[in-house]
Amino acid sequence: MKKTLFEYEKTHLKQLRKIAPECMVLLKSNGDFPLEGPGKIALYGSGVRKTLKGGTGSGDVNSRYVISVERGLRRAGFTITTETWLDTYDAVLAEARREFIADIKKKAYAQHRLPVMVGMGAVMPEPEYEIPLDGGGDTAIYVLSRICGEGNDRNAGTGDFALSVTERRDILALQKTYKRFLLVLNVGGPVDLTPVMEVENILLLGQLGAITGLAFTDVLLGKSYPSGKLSATWAPISDYPSVGTFGEKDDTFYHEGIYVGYRYFDSVQKEPLFPFGFGKSYTTFKIGKTSVEAEDTVIRVKAKVKNTGERKGKEVVQLYVSVPSGRLDQPYQSLAAYAKTGELEPQASEEVMLCFDLRDQAGFDTDACAYILEKGKYLLRIGTSSRETEVCAEITLKKELVVKTVSHIAGEVELHDWKPEPVAAPKEEEQKRKPESLTLNPEKEEEAVEPPRVSEEAAEFVKDLSDEDLARILVGHYSQDHGYASVVGEAANLVAGAAGQTTDEIEGVPALVMADGPAGLRLARDYVRDEKGARAVGDDLPAGMEELLGPVSGAVVKGTRLKKKKELEDQEILHQYCTAIPIGTALAQSFSPAAAEKCGDIVGDEMERFGIHLWLAPGMNIQRHPLCGRIFEYYSEDPVLTGLTAAAVTKGVQSHPGCGATIKHYCCNNQETNRFQNSSAVSERALRELYLRGFEIAIREADPVALMTSYNLLNGVHTSEREDLLKTVLRKEWGYGGLVMSDWVIRYMADRTAHYKVANAALSVQAGNDLFMPGSAADYRGIVMALRGKNPRCVLNRGEAEKSAARILDTAWRLVRERNR
Ligand code: BGC
Repeated sequence: MKKTLFEYEKTHLKQLRKIAPECMVLLKSNGDFPLEGPGKIALYGSGVRKTLKGGTGSGDVNSRYVISVERGLRRAGFTITTETWLDTYDAVLAEARREFIADIKKKAYAQHRLPVMVGMGAVMPEPEYEIPLDGGGDTAIYVLSRICGEGNDRNAGTGDFALSVTERRDILALQKTYKRFLLVLNVGGPVDLTPVMEVENILLLGQLGAITGLAFTDVLLGKSYPSGKLSATWAPISDYPSVGTFGEKDDTFYHEGIYVGYRYFDSVQKEPLFPFGFGKSYTTFKIGKTSVEAEDTVIRVKAKVKNTGERKGKEVVQLYVSVPSGRLDQPYQSLAAYAKTGELEPQASEEVMLCFDLRDQAGFDTDACAYILEKGKYLLRIGTSSRETEVCAEITLKKELVVKTVSHIAGEVELHDWKPEPVAAPKEEEQKRKPESLTLNPEKEEEAVEPPRVSEEAAEFVKDLSDEDLARILVGHYSQDHGYASVVGEAANLVAGAAGQTTDEIEGVPALVMADGPAGLRLARDYVRDEKGARAVGDDLPAGMEELLGPVSGAVVKGTRLKKKKELEDQEILHQYCTAIPIGTALAQSFSPAAAEKCGDIVGDEMERFGIHLWLAPGMNIQRHPLCGRIFEYYSEDPVLTGLTAAAVTKGVQSHPGCGATIKHYCCNNQETNRFQNSSAVSERALRELYLRGFEIAIREADPVALMTSYNLLNGVHTSEREDLLKTVLRKEWGYGGLVMSDWVIRYMADRTAHYKVANAALSVQAGNDLFMPGSAADYRGIVMALRGKNPRCVLNRGEAEKSAARILDTAWRLVRERNR
């Protein structure tokens, strides 16, 4: 491996080091930190040496290094006094890992399944052990890590969501023994901190990509400062809404309706450990004078923010709206807008502007099939977290406004959304400001948008294609060698380690190459180019996968995709070094569209370098439940923060010629258990107000080039097979003109004991899912047969198929032409 970094890598790492502290959330602080300078330090915990840059699965980026907390501190000149503890812990961990893997294999063989399918993303609970806490010095840091990933959900038990007995004991002991103690959380989602709430300094470091340890060191030494806010509520597991189900094999019921995250906690007045939007700083801030104005339904709030402390910092001002309950029950409040200040010196002030359209707060009235704003008083609450706000304006709507009438979607489902009992309003912060009063009389209903069309050039091109060629365009490129399916990482022959590509077999149809994210660009680090195309070299399998491969699957993957370096002596080994950026949740925690856009820009730059057209990110499912295995890839429990973060990342990516973002997974992909065949049972109201909302915002604000449907079913039908989601909502309601592709449906991954089948290629194209990925001979044949009326599951209308193929062509031509310009 080439040791010195390329210039672009250096630039990206430098940019990330600056952004990363914006993603960190200071949860508790007694003023003991930052430190004045490097010195003796005692380091404990799972994340000191094996600091996690992100989670596992397709969202894992093959960056060529990660700076751990240990390395970051050593580099800065700290003397680590716990060498023995760290070495002993490594040995304990290695042993625990061996046992864990052996156990997965045993279970898998007993179920006649592949260990890799059973163990992918499975969380190994933190082991229990006793190692003396005897490091010298008066300052200690405990770094607690948690990994999770695609393929399995997290566990509520000890060593995962709950702290292990050892962690609890050691953290509490350190808090008592050392003069200064900091608990650092190197996690991708919430953990239950109840047993250690007496700790006085807690930093949510998160998983920040390659520079995690460096960015931590900067913050520890006060060269930088944390300025993030929680993008989800942190609470003990039993406090999250439990009327719905989670992690079911076949059907998962979203009975909690719209009451997800803080919408639930605030409405039932449950005190979380740390609320949504919360985060401290090394300094303090005060929101001073506010002024509010309205133009039709667009509201602008100006607020003066002052740094009232003694160090530099940035503050995030948040604006929530309490919508009056009428025909529709309403959550206590929802986030409407936010703004982050620039760096404020002590005593300096800045005026920020928060802007939103009240129409976006409309509730969905299922009976009327319309978004409505009921008459009454709308309270605007301004503050620095969801639980620290003051009413800054009361907006009166004299009569009800029908914002938009739409068609029903989501089908029939046996589901009654839960509603909170009316409770007394939560205790308000002492109200010091006098709210402004405004009256609005909006009348106009939104007009329908014009559904986008494909270009004439593309429509003409596809008209003359044979059924075979049409089908070839509609499924991803698959290896003819294996015929039946694409093996992981081998679906693309143009760029090594890319997740997939479209066909390169038809003249005039350029191939689109796709690579994963969201924590950077996922490609093979080392590769060769031979007669079969670009082929990965070495072991760039998702973390944890190699050890799970049995003798047969191991031989398939290694024999087909991975060439051992020693076999390649006379071939030139080429490199694609990509930069791991902060995980989705961390980016959202920045509450900074500028930081998110910069990260998108870094990815876009690397896409251009390595020939990638579509980045399979941002991942923007709502963090419905803290145990979701892919929680780290997603942004937030709130759709506005989700949508705006996704839009910013998309803008960054798409500022590069020939680069497109692929927002995913549309929609309700909120668990990993039986992920290919699980059905999310969701009411139309919750679907529209929560789960579609972020996608709508991202599309409106940033027009992503592509969108990926999800593996799961929605109310019994696969999302890729749902005309209502694809044609009615995406095209007609939102006017989306981009490319719609499926998630990577691989039939042999299906669980035969499950109630539902995996998604079908022909049915998906018929419903408006343009491209079926990653592609297989069976998918291709299914489409050809369906075009000829010979597929028993689907008759595929040639006109529909042509429209989808034309959209793929339009996208390919546009991106390839832009790139070549
Ligand atoms: C994941 C997607 C990913 C795709 C390609 C799927 O298993 O769900 O998020 O983009 O694989 O790697």
